[in-house]
Amino acid sequence: MKQDMIVILDLGSPKNTAIARAIRDLGVYSEIHPHDISRDKLSQLPNLKGIIINGGKNVLSDGVTIDVNHNIYEAGYPVMVVEHESVQCANKRESWPETEEEIKAVLKDFIFNTCHAEPNWNMKNFIEDQVELIKKQVDDKKVLLALSGGVDSSVVAALLIKAIGKQLVCVHVNHGLMRKSESETVIEVFKNQMDANLIYVDAGERFLKKLANVSDPEKKRKIIGAEFIRVFEEEARKLEDIKFLAQGTIYPDIVESGTKTASAVKSHHNVGGLPDDLKFSLVEPLYHLFKDEVRACGIELGLPEAMVYRQPFPGPGLGVRCLGAITKERLEAVRESDVILREEFARAGLDKKVWQYFTVVPDFKSVGVKNHARSFEYPVIIRAINTIDAMTASIEQIDWPVLMRITDRILTEVLNVNRVCYDLSPKPCATIEWE
Ligand code: XMP
Repeated sequence: MKQDMIVILDLGSPKNTAIARAIRDLGVYSEIHPHDISRDKLSQLPNLKGIIINGGKNVLSDGVTIDVNHNIYEAGYPVMVVEHESVQCANKRESWPETEEEIKAVLKDFIFNTCHAEPNWNMKNFIEDQVELIKKQVDDKKVLLALSGGVDSSVVAALLIKAIGKQLVCVHVNHGLMRKSESETVIEVFKNQMDANLIYVDAGERFLKKLANVSDPEKKRKIIGAEFIRVFEEEARKLEDIKFLAQGTIYPDIVESGTKTASAVKSHHNVGGLPDDLKFSLVEPLYHLFKDEVRACGIELGLPEAMVYRQPFPGPGLGVRCLGAITKERLEAVRESDVILREEFARAGLDKKVWQYFTVVPDFKSVGVKNHARSFEYPVIIRAINTIDAMTASIEQIDWPVLMRITDRILTEVLNVNRVCYDLSPKPCATIEWE
């Protein structure tokens, strides 16, 4: 293994991730593990150089008080204890540093002078280590992956292709609610360029049939989610000898879904909804990475920038942007206006500045005039927001000429549309998506 490691034991402190990030910024790989990790399990962690017991509330969500297994102190690794607001290291008690710089200085001293860790954390080494670990875990067995084309699943695919080549079976389900060219890009990058074992499922008609006349947003979301699992399950059943399921789980997913010390923020939705007789062992090589590290990993693996830096796209896809009961006509208007918006944002340099931007087509028409005649057609609504964590969002102030250009193009190039509006609503009161 290439990388040294410092482990942080989670006793419920909100500073766990900040400490992990600070250690990685110092060039040493760090992982956060549950407070009750056994001494044996600790000893199996490759290249472990030191342990930080990061005290927090030291209670679980049900009120039970917790502590680490005391025999880990005898496991032979240097231990630093952070107790609430104080830090205790080698019998020395100091006040817990306040600023980021002070925290880094304390960590630096512990990591390099006490643990003698090498600053060898970089993406190249991370990938080499993961390739080795994946090979060891998977051996000669086959691994299945639902490859949506999103950042996380794409990076997992590239990493597994590097590690086990054709033993990875990727299934790309096109639910017909993808953005323009999205499925084609997945095929081009993974099948044509990376020579992946890729099964492409064109399920567009099937999804549209299920969604016909369904206008309630939550019902639409549920149908899309359930149908996705059904299609994936059908494909999985056709395959033989699959032992593993790869998932693009990343560290923020785990925190949001709830750790031992933190209650869930929201349920993490992935292909975890498979029936019991189709349960696989999981391969989750990005488990300990933060989003920016996942992107760096994707670039190192040679994935195109557009794929690695793409804006977030909801699982239900354009289905939640074609408001109300989905029709082919309006779905096409969402897809075509979306591509115009993306082209013009890229041309204006806004694609790297704005967090998320898309178009929405509601299910009502308005009166207009086109080619000297009355028209009765749909509006297109443009939304462009900035946010840190998607919990709140503000509106990007787009320059007028850019908006006019986008409007002109949508009105001339997109069928069944006679009006363009700009959504000025922050979150809250609005959510980012319309449904
Ligand atoms: P809202 O609309 O809740 O969106 O303000 C917050 C962020 O989450 C994205 N989003 C989803 N992402 N599956 C996803 O993977 C979903 O079902 C989903 N719904 C919303 C949304 O695009 C925004 O970035």
